Formats: sequence, C-alpha cells, structure tokens
Amino acid sequence: MLGITRNRPQPRAGMDYADSRQKNNFIGKIIFAAVLTAICVIVLRQSSGYGSTSVFSRHEAGITHILVTGGAGYIGSHASLRLLKDSYRVTIVDNLSRGNLGAVKVLQQQFPEPGRLQFIYADLGDAKAVNKIFAENAFDAVMHFAAVAYVGESTLEPLRYYHNITSNTLLLLEAMAAHNVKTLIYSSTCATYGEPEKMPITEETPQVPINPYGKAKKMAEDIILDFSRNSDMAVMILRYFNVIGSDPEGRLGEAPRPELREQGRISGACFDAALGIIPGLKVKGTDYKTPDGTCVRDYIDVTDLVDAHVKALAKARPSKVGIYNVGTGKGRSVKEFVEACKKATSVNIQVEFLSRRPGDYAEVYSDPSKIRRELNWTAQYTDLQESLQTAWRWQKSHKNGYGSPL
Ligand SMILES: NC(=O)c1ccc[n+]([C@@H]2O[C@H](COP(=O)([O-])OP(=O)(O)OC[C@H]3O[C@@H](n4cnc5c(N)ncnc54)[C@H](O)[C@@H]3O)[C@@H](O)[C@H]2O)c1
Ligand SMILES: *[C@@H]1O[C@H](CO)[C@@H](O)[C@H](O)[C@H]1NC(C)=O
Ligand SMILES: *[C@@H]1O[C@H](CO)[C@@H](O)[C@H](O)[C@H]1NC(C)=O
Ligand SMILES: *[C@@H]1O[C@H](CO)[C@@H](O)[C@H](O)[C@H]1NC(C)=O
Repeated sequence: MLGITRNRPQPRAGMDYADSRQKNNFIGKIIFAAVLTAICVIVLRQSSGYGSTSVFSRHEAGITHILVTGGAGYIGSHASLRLLKDSYRVTIVDNLSRGNLGAVKVLQQQFPEPGRLQFIYADLGDAKAVNKIFAENAFDAVMHFAAVAYVGESTLEPLRYYHNITSNTLLLLEAMAAHNVKTLIYSSTCATYGEPEKMPITEETPQVPINPYGKAKKMAEDIILDFSRNSDMAVMILRYFNVIGSDPEGRLGEAPRPELREQGRISGACFDAALGIIPGLKVKGTDYKTPDGTCVRDYIDVTDLVDAHVKALAKARPSKVGIYNVGTGKGRSVKEFVEACKKATSVNIQVEFLSRRPGDYAEVYSDPSKIRRELNWTAQYTDLQESLQTAWRWQKSHKNGYGSPL
C-alpha cells in the first residue's frame, strides 16, 4: 500500500565512518519511515476492513459504491461527506500531495460503521497501484477530483499539469474500462473556455483555454469524450466556476498547503489577511471593462457544487454524456467580494490596489440554465457574505488547517 520498504534506508557497511550530515540524513529517513508507518497503521485500523475480502470488494444490491479520487482535498472531501450522508459507500484514493489526512479522519469519525468509508493512500499516476485498487474493489461509479489546480502554477510547471491531470485521467479511464466500471463524473473547469467574447458562458461556448491548467483539463475532457463515443460508459462532465465556502456544519474546510498560499485563490487570501497571516489583500487590476473596474467572477458554494455531483450521478445514463456548467449565473466583482469578506470576518482588511496581473480575464460567469433544465439543479447558497461567513468560522477555529499535514 505505502511502499515503505522502498523508502527504508538500507544500513550500509562503513556507516560508522559516514560524516554527520549523512548520519542526520539517515536518521531523518528513519523518522520519516516511522511516521509513514504510524500513519499507515492508523489508516489501516480506521478504514475498517481494507483488503480483498472486505465488503468493498463485492457489489451489493441497493448500495452504490463510489470511488472518490482526490477525496482528501477541498472539494473531494465535501463530496465524500455528502455521499456518505446519502448512504453511498465511499472509497477515497488520494496521495495526500495536496489534500489532508485530517479531512479523511473527520469523515471516518462521522461514519465509523464498517463498509461505509475506506481510504487508500495511492498515487493515480501509478498504473499498477490503480489497477490493483480496481481489481480489489467493486466500484459502481467514479468521481474524479484528483488534480493539481492552480492557474499560475500551471504556467510555471506545465508538465506537472499535463502529467497529473491529463495523463492521470487517461490512466484512470483505462482502469475503469478494464474493470468494467461504467459511470464517470469528471471535475472540469470554466478555465477550459479561456477568454470568451460573449458572456454568459454556455456549454456551447467554444473552448479555447489560455493556460496549461485549462488546456490539460480540456484534453482530459477530449479523451473522455472520444472514449465514450465507442463505449456504453455513462459520463457527466461538470465545469465548475470559482468554488468557495465550506460545510455549513463546520466539519470540513479548505486547507491548502501553506506553500500554495501564494498561488492562492481569493477566498484563501481574504481569510489569511483577516487572520493576519498576510498584511492585506492585493487587488490586481482596477481598469478592466467592468462596472467597478475589477475582475468579475461567478462564485459557487461548495455545498451547491457537491449537490450538482449527486444529481449528475443520479441522472447519468449508459452511452450518454452530459456536460454542464456549474455556477450561479451571477458575476461578482473583486471589490464586491472584498466587501463581503470584510463583513463576513468583521475585520477591516487592508486592500492594496495594484496594476493588472497577466493572464487574468475581465469577466467570467456562467449560464447555468442547462443544468437547471436537465438536472433540476440551481445554486441555493448565493449570498456571498453567508458563504464566506461559513468558511470563515472554520478558518478561525482551524488556524492550523487540519493540523500537521503529511
Ligand atoms: N477549487 C476550484 O475553484 C475549482 C474550480 C474548477 C475546477 N476544480 C477542480 O476540482 C477538483 C478538486 O479541486 P480542489 O480545489 O478540491 O483541489 P485540492 O488540491 O484541494 O484537491 C485535489 C486532491 O487530489 C489529490 N491528488 C492530486 N494528485 C494526485 C495523484 N496523482 N494521486 C492521488 N491523489 C492526488 C491531492 O492530494 C488533493 O487531495 C480538481 O480537479 C480541480 O481541477 C476546482
Ligand atoms: C503524488 O503523486 C505524484 C504523481 O502524480 C507524485 O509525483 C508525488 O510524488 C506523489 N506524492 C506523494 C506524497 O506520494
Ligand atoms: C505531478 O507530476 C510531476 C511530474 O511531471 C511531479 O513532479 C509532481 O510531483 C506530480 N504531483 C503533483 C501533486 O504535483
Ligand atoms: C426539482 O427540485 C425541487 C427543489 O429541490 C423539487 O422540489 C422538485 O420536486 C424537483 N422537480 C423535479 C421534476 O424533480
């Protein structure tokens, strides 16, 4: 499962003569291996009945077993919570490169009964590991969240994006085909549209992505669509707009790696400013062709977003593909967002107005009428301040995120 043996340093002859740097390195490795082992034991103990003889390996009438990739991440953990509440059986696969084991632990505490939730630590880029997971588990459907997802980072490290988005999706699809798993709900993004001339964005708006993140997601969509043409797979592609908020009951939140804060999204930056982690907010660009000069985006609450996934899953049909925008249909400017954030946090956040950042488009918002028509879904949590208030409550009580990440 963890491949600890590979990481365990082999004692070498002449170790006694090794310089102290090497020795420190050696001790570091031992500590690392010990920590990994401990985590593995905890995970094994808590994911009741992992292994080929478990209930997870059998299809059961009346129970739908969902593989949630990236389930330790922000959206994946919220989706898992909703699925578990709705009596689905859930297997999370995540390699914790960006997600939090703490989120998985929260889910395990909420749903400790055997056969509800299983966590598998694995890398989706590892074909052998992925095939083993499919061989040992009887999945009815896959929700594929796992990805790297920062536009700025994607321009600096494009290969990381093509690898971890496009190539991993291909690999997952191959495993699904080989093991006869016939329903896929795919996390796509409005970044696949690029910078359309006409607003709002409908599903027919041409996809001309302008950064590696959007391109990698678009390629993954294309692979899925091409495959689905000659298969009876049921596919739903959801193109999310800007996701905010967190569990209204305060069990889960958004806790990106500290080193990703720089890349961060506006809500994270706003909370960091309110917490005093950063001195203030930098609003980049006040001369866009928008009502107040700042960029306009469509902010969708994560609770609504996971509801869209559940509805998409319910309506997924063999040999059919559904492509849907998931947004509120309403654009909000950065200035509006900042005001809502000040009210939500009751902190008078310092705002600095700077010149434009390259690669930002003026205005992006969705036309969500297709998903309303076909899936009977509309956004319910459309009060920006309320969504931010919910997220802020979690942020304030979890200043350290989920505690120490791996
Ligand atoms: N957050 C947004 O605003 C937004 C908008 C549009 C689309 N999306 C999409 O939603 C999905 C989830 O995004 P998120 O914001 O929850 O991101 P996140 O980083 O919080 O979660 C992604 C999870 O995937 C895991 N992961 C990444 N690579 C992996 C690998 N190779 N093997 C196993 N696990 C791996 C990470 O550890 C992490 O837990 C992504 O596909 C993203 O592109 C997000
Ligand atoms: C997670 O997966 C990626 C490949 O997609 C890999 O490069 C990375 O090292 C993995 N991280 C961990 C902590 O295993
Ligand atoms: C993604 O892929 C690259 C290889 O291109 C790897 O170095 C990186 O660790 C991978 N994983 C993540 C989560 O970025
Ligand atoms: C659509 O959703 C609403 C609210 O969730 C519900 O009351 C209604 O019955 C649904 N309509 C259909 C046709 O399913």
